[in-house]
Amino acid sequence: MKNLKVGIIGFGTVGTGVYKVLQNFNNIEIVKIAVKNINKKRDIENFNYNLLTDNAEEIVNNPNIDVVIEVAGGVNPALDLLKIAIKNKKHIVTANKELLAKHGSELFSLAKENKILILYEAAVAGGIPIIMPIKTILCANKITKIAAILNGTTNYILTKMGEKDLSYDVALKQAQELGYAETDPTGDVEGFDAAYKIAILATISFNKKVDINKIYREGITKITAQDIKSAKELGYRIKLIAMGQVLSDGKIDVRVHPMLVAKKHLLAKINNATNSIMLSGYPVGDLVLTGAGAGAEPTASSVVGDLLVIASELESSNNPLPQAICNHSQIANQINIGDTFNEYYIAINASNNPGVIGVIGTICGKNNINISTIMQKGINEDNTAEIVVITEVSKESDIQNALKEMLHSDCIKKIDNLLRVMN
Ligand code: HSE
Repeated sequence: MKNLKVGIIGFGTVGTGVYKVLQNFNNIEIVKIAVKNINKKRDIENFNYNLLTDNAEEIVNNPNIDVVIEVAGGVNPALDLLKIAIKNKKHIVTANKELLAKHGSELFSLAKENKILILYEAAVAGGIPIIMPIKTILCANKITKIAAILNGTTNYILTKMGEKDLSYDVALKQAQELGYAETDPTGDVEGFDAAYKIAILATISFNKKVDINKIYREGITKITAQDIKSAKELGYRIKLIAMGQVLSDGKIDVRVHPMLVAKKHLLAKINNATNSIMLSGYPVGDLVLTGAGAGAEPTASSVVGDLLVIASELESSNNPLPQAICNHSQIANQINIGDTFNEYYIAINASNNPGVIGVIGTICGKNNINISTIMQKGINEDNTAEIVVITEVSKESDIQNALKEMLHSDCIKKIDNLLRVMN
């Protein structure tokens, strides 16, 4: 295999994992590592501190470097650095989902112009091989559906809420103490991280550029212990699901939100920080890939895998791996959440009066919503009742209209939650 000289930008958990795994490959030489703080002590035996620089331009402009590994994350300064690296004809391996989701088109066009590769297996679901399989061995398929758990932090929090009847705040605090959730957890708990990943996955699966700004996104911060309990009683688990589907008219439905997932469903059984991706395509049928979506070693598996692919392809060809080149000329026609069809879970707080269930039924009926289950969960101290409704498949805009109407009725105090359901 060709000897490669690499520079690494970012030396946190993933960068350190990549460094350690690369010690097993004597055809790869690490020339430089760009870090924020060159004086920080690194937990690596016999580490050569001369490799470190706090100026990443020393990597992207270095004529001795063939491949830039970018594991720093975020858009700035990664975007500018990678543009320089590409213009300098360096191949790129990156784990940066935000950068690719927001600026993928620009980077991939530049890469095409400069005849270099950008590989990014680690950007989606850490250690699970999904990008390269879609772009190579699955390319005979028309993929029409993806449903996935792509964020380990939120899956960990939801799992603990379910196992120990914890509130969201307590489960988040525990996840932070154990290092699963960051001090500022927004990127994970508000669904941004999962949205970046499904934008990338849907783009390569459906062969159409998916716009991150048109992805409907809802996080897990409004899920209550009561929602988890009610879901369990009804035979469901609550999961943050990233999904994408091609509809019969060719339009694309891509979104991230929590869902009640029937407990017999494979995704309902994915617990703690594990990720899982279900794909449906023709002719392959249904596929499920499950594994670690984060962590130093699983992510390094994907980064180093990409690097070794580049090393072996460069040895055999000047025009390597055509399938790995991302070139989506068609733009996805993405639908709005209001036009989607789902089954729904509605948690309603109503006054404890005769006829309340009738009011809910009438409003649902008027808005074309067929109720499949309705459950009253006792009476609260303030003489209000908790009522949970599960609907048959309904249009989101009808549901939203019905909720507005419910809030105008005297007996309905509050809509505690609205979640979509997957059976
Ligand atoms: N923070 C992510 C997660 C991993 O919790 O899955 C990196 O994308």
